[in-house]
Amino acid sequence: MVAWDVGASPQAVATADVLATMSARCEACHSERPRLMWKAPGGLVLSSVDDVDRNAAAIYRTVVQSRAMPPIWNVTRMTEAERAQIARWFAGRPQL
Ligand code: HEC
Repeated sequence: MVAWDVGASPQAVATADVLATMSARCEACHSERPRLMWKAPGGLVLSSVDDVDRNAAAIYRTVVQSRAMPPIWNVTRMTEAERAQIARWFAGRPQL
């Protein structure tokens, strides 16, 4: 049992599943043509499995640890289940 163990099988969450969550909750700002911003903040685009993979640590930090994203009191209404999904996914990733 480790600190980040959230009680489910870690390998249950694929990066593609996380991408679906990013599309629903993050892409309004973090995409090439964001709907809610004139450009992706910090140049951070989360539109492919590769983007999600490359930014795994930052996603985990902002969604699970600091909960700074989604901003403006969770403007895109990310659910607790989705945050838990990100936590499980991150815990199950090979640590680079
Ligand atoms: C309403 C627009 C908006 C949405 C939706 C949004 N972000 Fe952001 N994001 C921002 C802005 C603006 C910044 C830059 C300012 C800041 O850091 O607060 C940012 C910065 C970031 C950063 C870099 C900040 C750092 O501390 O390194 C990450 C990582 C990030 N967002 C991830 C996400 C994820 C993951 C989601 C979806 C769960 C998300 N964001 C949803 C607007 C948004």
